[in-house]
Amino acid sequence: MDISNRTIFIIGATSGIGLGLARRFATAGSTVIVGGRRTDPIDGLEVVEIDVTDADSVARARDAVLDRHPGLDTVVTMAGVMLVEDLRDPAHFATAETTIDINLLGTIRVIDAFTPHLLARGAGTFITVSSGIAFLPFPLMPTYGASKAAVHAYSESLRAQLLGTGVGVAELVPPAVATTAETKQMNPAAVDLGAFLDEAISLLTQSPTPDEILVEAVHEHRWAEREGTYGELVTRRSQALAMLPGRSVQA
Ligand SMILES: NC(=O)c1ccc[n+]([C@@H]2O[C@H](COP(=O)([O-])OP(=O)(O)OC[C@H]3O[C@@H](n4cnc5c(N)ncnc54)[C@H](OP(=O)(O)O)[C@@H]3O)[C@@H](O)[C@H]2O)c1
Repeated sequence: MDISNRTIFIIGATSGIGLGLARRFATAGSTVIVGGRRTDPIDGLEVVEIDVTDADSVARARDAVLDRHPGLDTVVTMAGVMLVEDLRDPAHFATAETTIDINLLGTIRVIDAFTPHLLARGAGTFITVSSGIAFLPFPLMPTYGASKAAVHAYSESLRAQLLGTGVGVAELVPPAVATTAETKQMNPAAVDLGAFLDEAISLLTQSPTPDEILVEAVHEHRWAEREGTYGELVTRRSQALAMLPGRSVQA
């Protein structure tokens, strides 16, 4: 994908990876529209309000973006939340609902809103966003992992259904990425945002665009089952459950 001349709407770009990606596309020469619930001005970027849990808000944002940018050719479904759940406490269900509503149904609402436009153009790209956790669970965030595994599966079917229309689907699969100093402190192993973007952009700009954007640090997750390391890695990642109240680490 050539990123120097796209017109791209990144939903979930008011912070973090989405904002970093927005800046990279803008620097490369693309026209970038940033979406999120927050509408504080972001230097040099157009911001459009969108709440992916609300179909009316998604339709309003779609109409506003297409009104100003009828040549829109790229839509990124970056909006997401990563929430901890204690499955021994039934109160976790509210968190599960929120996670599915934003990460999975939000992705589907946005894709549905823009599919007619991209099909009518006969050219364009959806970039969906899953996670390494889609392929290797992090037991502290059960519904998060389930939502991202679902985004992966959905992306595969979407790509198959759009085959031959000119509309492609690329799935960005981030590993742990340190988007703030605080997240770096919480997980020192997380990849720095700048390094992640460098590598992700170099993969995204390959021709043809890969179906999955897999930076080196996410290969351990993506291929754990194939490599036979899955069980051992899930056990290791389960150590984090000790963070939950009243829980000690199981051997
Ligand atoms: N950072 C990582 O380690 C990592 C790893 C793997 C995958 N990912 C995925 O990458 C994406 C970005 O993560 P991040 O770490 O950059 O998180 P972040 O800084 O918290 O960004 C999340 C973005 O999603 C938006 N968002 C949340 N709820 C929304 C809603 N209801 N409607 C519209 N926008 C909403 C937020 O905007 P508003 O608050 O303005 O609405 C924000 O722009 C997520 O899908 C995440 O699951 C991240």
